Order: sequence, then C-alpha cells, then structure tokens
Amino acid sequence: MTSTASEDPISALRTEAVEQLSAADSADALESWRVEFLGRKGKLTGILRNLGSLKPDQRRAAGAAANRLKGELEAAFEEKLTASKRSGASQPADAIDVTLPGRRPRAGGLHPSTQIMREMLDAFNEMGFQTVEGNEVELERYNFDMLNIPADHPARDMQDTIWIDRDRDSADGGILLRTQTSPMQPRIMEQQDPPVRIVSPGKCFRFEATDATHEWQFHQIEGLAVDEGLSFADLKGTLYEFARRIFGADRKVRFRCDFFPFVEPGVDMSIDWDGRWVEILGAGMVHPRVLSNVGYDPEKYTGFAFGVGPERVALLKYGIEDIRHFFSNDLRFLSQF
Ligand code: DAH
Repeated sequence: MTSTASEDPISALRTEAVEQLSAADSADALESWRVEFLGRKGKLTGILRNLGSLKPDQRRAAGAAANRLKGELEAAFEEKLTASKRSGASQPADAIDVTLPGRRPRAGGLHPSTQIMREMLDAFNEMGFQTVEGNEVELERYNFDMLNIPADHPARDMQDTIWIDRDRDSADGGILLRTQTSPMQPRIMEQQDPPVRIVSPGKCFRFEATDATHEWQFHQIEGLAVDEGLSFADLKGTLYEFARRIFGADRKVRFRCDFFPFVEPGVDMSIDWDGRWVEILGAGMVHPRVLSNVGYDPEKYTGFAFGVGPERVALLKYGIEDIRHFFSNDLRFLSQF
C-alpha cells in the first residue's frame, strides 16, 4: 500500500500538469504553469522534497519516477513554448493596429539614363536593330586595335583610359574599362555573318576631369548595320528617323564631317536647340579595315555605325544643366523623372 501511495501523487501530478499545460494558451499562462509545476517552490519540487520521509527502498523507486516526470514536464514545456512563439501566441492580440490609416509606400523608379536609353533603343528596335549587351571590362584589342586605332594612334590620347592591367603580355593587349561601346562592333561581327543590325547600350569610362558636360562614366548606345549595298543614305535615314522619334518631327538635324578611325567617311550629328547646334552622336560608314579585321569582305559588304550618348540626349530633351547630376545619386534630381 505504501508503495502505491508514494507513486500515486506522482501520476496524479502528471495528469494535472499535462491537462493544465495543454490549456495554457498565452505566454503568461505558460509562465504561471512553469512556476506552479517546475518552479523552485512548485509542486514537483514539493514531491522531491518529501522523498526524504520515505523508506530507503521506496525512496529509490519514487525518486526515479519523480525525476522521470520532471524530464517529461520540462520537455513538454519547451515544446509548447517554442510552438507558441512560432505561432505568435506570445504577442498580445493587439500588437498590430489594423485601424492605422494606410501610408502610400514610396515608389521607386527607373534611373533617367535607363529611361532615355529604353526610349532610344525602342526607336532602333522598331527599325529592325536588335539589342545586344557587351562587357564593361574589355580587351585593348577590341577597344582599340580591331577598330583601326593602333597603339601609336593619336586617337588613343582622345580617350584617356582607365587600365585594369596595362602591361599584360598577350596578343589581346592590356585589360581596360571600355572607353566606348564601339568594341561591340568587332565582337558582334566575329560572331556572325552579315547581315548585321544591332544596337548595344552600356556604360563607358574615361580617365578625365569632370565638368558640366563631361563625366568619367557615362553611357553610349552603339549601332551597327552591315549588309550588301548599304550606303550613306541608309545611315542618314536611320539617324533622321531616330532624331524625329526622340525630339519630335520638326527638329532640325545637321551632319558635319568628323574623324573617327573606324569609319570613312565619318560625321557627327547635331540637333537644333533654340538656334544652337548641339552634337549628340558620331557616325560613319564602317572602315574597310574594320570589316577585313573580322574576316568580312569589304568588296562585298558595306555598313554604317554610330555611337550616341544617352545622357547628352537627356540633357537636351529634359533641359538638364549638368551631366554630373546623373551619377550623384541625389533623390531631388532622380525623383523628377
Ligand atoms: N565611339 C565614339 C566615341 O566614343 C563614337 C562613335 C563615333 C561611334 C562614330 C561610332 C561611330 O560607331 O561610327 O567617341
């Protein structure tokens, strides 16, 4: 009898503790449960303390049973606590005030350079030019040599270069940050046979001082068309149409002779801005040497190319007075677009 009497309180306590634990439905209730059953002055401690009054043979069995119960209750408590934290039951029901009026989240937007580039690319895409992207880190060979700008050519001085590795011992020359998107011309031509009709947008870099119309990083969109029978009329028609699309149908456009080593003849195109001519791009008929550099037959194929600066276009189109705004990350400027 005595032995069952000493176990009974333990199984009774187990039943009581398990029932109450499953009823505990808040962080407060869980804590009260812990204090009541597992606390220093709790019911289980009470039983353990009473063990001393039992006979030694009963004491061992009862002690083992009480300790087993302690382990069970502790484990059940931990499990319930974790589950209630996970389900958020430990948060007061009113932690989220659903009556608060909504606030409009601040909407992000596309950078003005991206916006103008997309508009420009749309114009060319609709004329049949496919967009391809190139790499900003470029080989000297593609940035200069393949474009008919040999190492001793003064045109290299016009494009002060940021070098990654200048003195590399390689047939491709050094590694640099491209100074122009024009290296996409030979890269694309090496990959495919004519006809070619591509535009290639991207960032360019030059090692130079900045001012209101010069940045050390800027974008360009390169254009290239190569086919049998392309003439200067195709170049002009394409660029006229582009200018009309971006600046409106009445905008006057002017071509002047200009020099770029990879075209012959070369031109620049300006648009009329309140009686002032502002240059927005360089262009020309692809130089026969550039064609033969990539294995195209210059007797059979002709082509035209152009390179246009989106930031320059945006300056005019939106009346921005300083090109440095584009990359200064000032929200007062950026949020106007
Ligand atoms: N890459 C030239 C520059 O950065 C711009 C340019 C001129 C590109 C004439 C062309 C071109 O494709 O035909 O100054």
